[in-house]
Amino acid sequence: MKVLVTRRLPETVMGRLEKANEITELRVNPHDRTLTRDELEEGTAWCDILLSQLVDPVDAALMDCNSELKLIANYAVGYNNIDVPAATERGIPVTNTPGVLDDSTADLTWVLLMAVARRIVEADRYMRGGEYEGWAPTLLMGTDVHHKTLGIVGLGRIGFALAQRARGFDMRILYSDLELKPYAEEVGAEYVDMYTLLRQSDFVSLHPFYDKKSHHLIDTRELREMKRSAFLINVSRGPVVNEKALVKALKAGEIAGAALDVYEREPAMEPELAKMDNVVIVPHIASASLETRTAMGNIAVDNVLARCRGDALTTCLNPEAVG
Ligand code: GLV
Ligand code: GLV
Repeated sequence: MKVLVTRRLPETVMGRLEKANEITELRVNPHDRTLTRDELEEGTAWCDILLSQLVDPVDAALMDCNSELKLIANYAVGYNNIDVPAATERGIPVTNTPGVLDDSTADLTWVLLMAVARRIVEADRYMRGGEYEGWAPTLLMGTDVHHKTLGIVGLGRIGFALAQRARGFDMRILYSDLELKPYAEEVGAEYVDMYTLLRQSDFVSLHPFYDKKSHHLIDTRELREMKRSAFLINVSRGPVVNEKALVKALKAGEIAGAALDVYEREPAMEPELAKMDNVVIVPHIASASLETRTAMGNIAVDNVLARCRGDALTTCLNPEAVG
């Protein structure tokens, strides 16, 4: 089978693809950038299996470039870039990479939470800028994390892993979700409606599944519900937050700060975010550790090879597509 990889993956993952006998031809994006729409369409028309990235829009029109497409293996746990119902209609299975990135994503969430609370990025800039003139009683005072209230919006695998970390800091943990999660008890997380969570939390961290229902879940009204001393952390998908409303709330002092890994119109972001000291911004790197990116690649490759052999797919999102 012919396989298109839309962006180079970690070396050991590429090695597996290059050595696999099941793959007759392997085409890898030669550029250090996302494929253009034309390149993606041309490559999709050529391949049997598409190994896509979360920034590749795999819509019905793309699928229609190739009526023989055998698999879309997305190199991400999120799959809002793929029109899964359209793939199902066309009999194309879609796979993602769940399970292996929960801990790394929770780690990064924790980094952001601590960094914004204790002003780490500002402090680092201060040192590098040669501004440090000696210890001072009120220099770069931040906010404590321990014993505070953490509100987790969406207690899935990643939200749960975040709660585990918060326990070590003796935090009170609240969560909201579409349904009660029985495993919340294991981490002492208390179920509340989202508005209660917003009103009571010192840190609000967003981990919902992104779809129409969670689009702009956090907007002007929700930001107003938060405490003025509270911080918002988002590592899920940018459009979960109305980014313009967030900038307004930050400027008006309606919340104390924000830490973001994702943006509404990536790679763009509201330019004013970059001017605010109480904002920590990183470029969608929550799963970006060598171990995790390799594990994600291995799941994608397992699925590619299983499809070549006609074996069951390990993380299929639409098993009905294969019949
Ligand atoms: C990252 O954002 C992912 O969905 O894997
Ligand atoms: C700070 O360095 C302290 O000794 O309180």
